[in-house]
Amino acid sequence: MPQIGFRRTGVRPGGTMPLGGAVACLAALAAFLCQALPGSAHSTDSGIEGDPALGAYLSSECVACHQASGVQVAGIPAIVGWPRDQFVAVMQSYRDGHRDNPVMHNVASRLTDEEIAALAVHFGNLKPTGQ
Ligand code: HEC
Repeated sequence: MPQIGFRRTGVRPGGTMPLGGAVACLAALAAFLCQALPGSAHSTDSGIEGDPALGAYLSSECVACHQASGVQVAGIPAIVGWPRDQFVAVMQSYRDGHRDNPVMHNVASRLTDEEIAALAVHFGNLKPTGQ
């Protein structure tokens, strides 16, 4: 029965996965998880000086929902007059999903760090007028 001999030689020793591959994979996973953790690598402050003109330009999209006057309408919070670093941190947490809101995740995920910094300057400079 030639088949028996064939089957025998076809048997492979267990554990053929190269260990190096597994270690490299774990290292990559750890690096990814560490980046994703809040607070590591100064994720709340991009350190970028925002451009107020760019911020004013980009803000037209935001004020479709948020009031430039700083009034809260229909459950949409006021976002004017905030400290910049706080504004940046909140926008980044919507972008990376730490703040879980589908609308703002959508908005924030289209913005670069520069654009968020610019919006932080623009809205930070606005004073709530209450009207
Ligand atoms: C389609 C409507 C809509 C648009 C457009 C929109 N937002 Fe929002 N935004 C919301 C809603 C609703 C919330 C409250 C979400 C929540 O509960 O976390 C919110 C929350 C926020 C907050 C957090 C407020 C707080 O008190 O925690 C900030 C900051 C913000 N938006 C900034 C912006 C900026 C900047 C833009 C433009 C780039 C923008 N939003 C565009 C609807 C919108």
